[in-house]
Amino acid sequence: MAVPPAFLSTAVKMADDGGGARAEVLARTEAHVRQAMSGEGTGHDWWHIHRVRQTALRLAREEGADAYVVELAALLHDIADHKFHGGDETAGPRAARAWLEGAGVEDEVIAHVSAIIAGLSFKGAGVATPMHTPEGRVVQDADRLDAMGAVGIARAFAYGGSLGRPLHEPEQPPEAHASFAAYKASTGATINHFHEKLLLLRDRMNTASARRVAEGRHRFMERYLARFHAEWEGEDGMDADGTGGDGDA
Ligand code: ADP
Ligand code: NI
Repeated sequence: MAVPPAFLSTAVKMADDGGGARAEVLARTEAHVRQAMSGEGTGHDWWHIHRVRQTALRLAREEGADAYVVELAALLHDIADHKFHGGDETAGPRAARAWLEGAGVEDEVIAHVSAIIAGLSFKGAGVATPMHTPEGRVVQDADRLDAMGAVGIARAFAYGGSLGRPLHEPEQPPEAHASFAAYKASTGATINHFHEKLLLLRDRMNTASARRVAEGRHRFMERYLARFHAEWEGEDGMDADGTGGDGDA
């Protein structure tokens, strides 16, 4: 016989003060986020959240960060992103706080998770975005790793396409944004985004574990860009070995 959900949740809480209640909060949060973000087409879909959670939990084990705070912050970090709320940076931490309060989560955990979400985003080449706890550092690294490499390339073009941005405008140079306002206002071609954010991420990782992963993803993006420009100029296949000049068949 199926156990009614309300009975199950009380039983779990009573049987296990801490672990069981936390497992239930995580399961309910996952269901909430999954439902809110499924099928999203800008690269901020449920599977982005899923990858960030997996990576963040792996980094948390290596760095000794609190797995509960890390998992909640990873699950909720894009639930109300400023990019989709008219630039309002407080929408994300507020939505996370409201959800966690409704789920009965402890005040310290709510404060920590919303502070992580408030400080997470990349804000431009010239803007520092320090994270003040090990939990914040691993969630930020995991989110940034997902903007790099093969997946990061796919997400950048999905995001650009969703806003009607061109792939590449050869006469439009990339900019080094000195303020978050300038970064947010930018409407350039997606190739510029590689120079304005994605290629800067390797040197902004917080943890040594993430830096190792970032190195491979960074090199892959460099090879991709070399190839992109070779094809753009019709230079691929013109040399004797057919490698397009980037040494990569
Ligand atoms: P952040 O928290 O740093 O804003 P997110 O995890 O919310 O990062 O996701 C940002 C994703 O959107 C990244 O994959 C990034 O490449 C993409 N993105 C953001 N701005 C642009 C842009 N102007 N052009 C192309 N992709 C973009
Ligand atoms: Ni994200």
